[in-house]
This record gives sequence, C-alpha cells and structure tokens, in this order.
Amino acid sequence: MEIKSVAVVTGASQGIGRATALRLARDFSAVVLVARDKESLETAASEITAVGARAMVIAIDLRLPSSAETVIKGTLERFGRIDALLNIAGAVPQIDLFQMSDAEWDDGLALKFHGARRLTTEAWAALMASNGSVVLMSGSAALEPKPGNAAVAAINAAITALAKAFAEQGIQDGVRVNSVSPGAVMTGRRQAFFRKWAPAHNLTVEEAIKKFPEQAGITRFGKPEEIADLMSYLVSPVAKWMTGASVRMDGGEIKGI
Ligand SMILES: NC(=O)c1ccc[n+]([C@@H]2O[C@H](COP(=O)([O-])OP(=O)(O)OC[C@H]3O[C@@H](n4cnc5c(N)ncnc54)[C@H](OP(=O)(O)O)[C@@H]3O)[C@@H](O)[C@H]2O)c1
Repeated sequence: MEIKSVAVVTGASQGIGRATALRLARDFSAVVLVARDKESLETAASEITAVGARAMVIAIDLRLPSSAETVIKGTLERFGRIDALLNIAGAVPQIDLFQMSDAEWDDGLALKFHGARRLTTEAWAALMASNGSVVLMSGSAALEPKPGNAAVAAINAAITALAKAFAEQGIQDGVRVNSVSPGAVMTGRRQAFFRKWAPAHNLTVEEAIKKFPEQAGITRFGKPEEIADLMSYLVSPVAKWMTGASVRMDGGEIKGI
C-alpha cells in the first residue's frame, strides 16, 4: 500500500498526545507514536490500525540528544516521508521557583524544549520535501507566569518563540510551524497537578477538581480530544495559510487580548 502521508506524534502514550495520534489516524496514512511507555504506545497503535491507518511505535526517551535522529531516521526508513510533526511530549516539573533545582530545570528543558527543537531540526529536510507542517506544544501558563509554575511558564514561552523562529525559516522553505497553548485539560498530568495543588489549598483532590474551573473562570476542563481536533486542523491543508501562529484553547480562561 502506498504511504501518502505520515504524521509523527510525541507524547503519544497518553493524554493529549495519545488523543492526537488517534485523531490523525483519520487524516494520515501512517502515524508514528513516540514516548517511553512501549506497552501504552502499542495499545494506541492497535487502535490506529483498527481504523485502517498504519502505525509505528518508537519507545524512546526524548531527553537524550540521540533520540531525535533515531525517531526521524526510523520513520523515514519505514515510511519514506514525513508530512507532520507534532511535538506534544512534556513533563516540566511544577515546582516553586525558589525550590526548583538546576537539575529539575534542565530536565524540563531537555524534553519539552530541546526534544522538540532537535526533532524539528532533524525532520526539516523531510518536511521541506513534503511541504509539511509542525506543531509545538506550549501552554497558557506562558501568559500568566507565577512562582508556582515558573518553569512551565518560562519553558512554554520559550517554545512559542522557538515556533515563530522555525516558522520564519519555514516561509522560505515551505514548512508551516505553529504552536498551541491549551488551558486546563484533564489528563494524567493535570491530575498529578491537583494531587499537589489540593493540599496546599486545604482541599481534597476531588474538591479541588470541582472548584478549579470556577476559580479559573471557566465552565469545565478541556478534553484531550478537543486539543487533538485543533492539532488536526493545524496540520491539515485547510490551514495552509496559517503559520507562525500561537493558538490558545482554554475555555476562555485567559481574558487578556
Ligand atoms: N493537560 C494540560 O492541562 C496541559 C495544559 C497546557 C499544556 N499542556 C502540555 O501538553 C503536553 C501533553 O500534556 P498531557 O497533559 O497530555 O500530559 P501527560 O498525560 O502526562 O502526557 C505526557 C506525554 O509525554 C510523554 N513523555 C514524558 N516524558 C517523556 C520522555 N522523557 N521522553 C518521551 N516522552 C515523554 C509521556 O509518555 P511516557 O511517560 O510514556 O514517556 C506522555 O505520553 C505537555 O507538553 C504539557 O505541558 C498540557
């Protein structure tokens, strides 16, 4: 079977990345699923093959500098092309600015910033060949930095800037690059956040999850599938004049312009 279009999705073992990989199986002939947990990736891959797309699992730690080359070479050897790269993996520590160690800062940067930067650079020639597109995952914390989420905010802001730098080059090279900034989406990462946030606010985790949307001025949490639909739009031909954009989807939480 001819492979017409290939999407590489990082963070595909769970949460937003998994939802995106499944969503893209409707639009692309093959989806490459990247994260560390092989078993979860294989379960997602079997859901993709069940809807008729091809799937390839690459279980790898994207913090390692060599991983980008392994992912991109492996994809090109198997499928021969890359049309979309969705850098979604992220696990930036949510630790107070005055408590966070250098090692924790480096760890957050190693995956979410450098991992995405290296993959995008490594995939660039293939993306030029396909007139492909890239999405980098930022986050709305970048717009309201606080001491409790300083690393998340600063790294997300850096990613938004990085996406614009790639996009500028992409105008000449025929590659579109956008970034996405979700608000509060209910995933494993968000639940882990509440396990820390709740006791600090004298609440149980259940109470905190109930209270948070009201405090944030929204009606509910976002769903991974809603972000996945946005991702799918950004890498689709419909968005062919969209590049260098930083797209927010947060249920209206950020009221600033
Ligand atoms: N949920 C939200 O409210 C929210 C809001 C704004 C932005 N975001 C961003 O959206 C992205 C996804 O978040 P999520 O909530 O879906 O998180 P999640 O459920 O915790 O998923 C994170 C993904 O990253 C992968 N990952 C973690 N460490 C990795 C490593 N060293 N190498 C390769 N893959 C790794 C995980 O897979 P393995 O553990 O299998 O490696 C997993 O697939 C993150 O970049 C996050 O910052 C989320």
